[in-house]
Amino acid sequence: MIEKGARIALGADHAGFQIKDRIKETLQKQGYEVIDFGTHSEESVDYPDYARQVAQSVSQAESDRGILVCGTGLGMAVTANKFRSIRAATCNDTYTAHMAAEHTDANILCVGARVVDADHAVAIVAEWLKGKFGGGRHQRRIDKITEIERSLPVPAGKP
Ligand code: RB5
Repeated sequence: MIEKGARIALGADHAGFQIKDRIKETLQKQGYEVIDFGTHSEESVDYPDYARQVAQSVSQAESDRGILVCGTGLGMAVTANKFRSIRAATCNDTYTAHMAAEHTDANILCVGARVVDADHAVAIVAEWLKGKFGGGRHQRRIDKITEIERSLPVPAGKP
């Protein structure tokens, strides 16, 4: 459950920017603080440039959560998961979004603008935000993911 007033970082490529803007509008109306890293047009851009900014923001605790939108939600998640403490989940349906919060404690949600329409994307975001992390055996599994992450060498200058 992500409380109103939480800081949510948003990012999208050219395929996802319209849905990203619709999500932004919805979140602002609901009282969330939105940090929009772009993009802002249909001009072709590279999704890693946006995933990097959102993932860094969440990893460095400048944002509480992140949402990334590209064509499929895949490239964004692959990129974001390179960052320390990031658990990015591609969710193109509400059930997966619910489980991403309840079991995976995903701190970044990735959505595919060529897979779902804007209304569906907003519903997916809502399901993820209202989901409550279950703790217990799920926390044990998250701890194992963190242990794997911590066992890897951190390149200088990376968060
Ligand atoms: C861009 O054409 C597309 O590859 C991108 O939006 C995304 O689907 C990548 O995962």
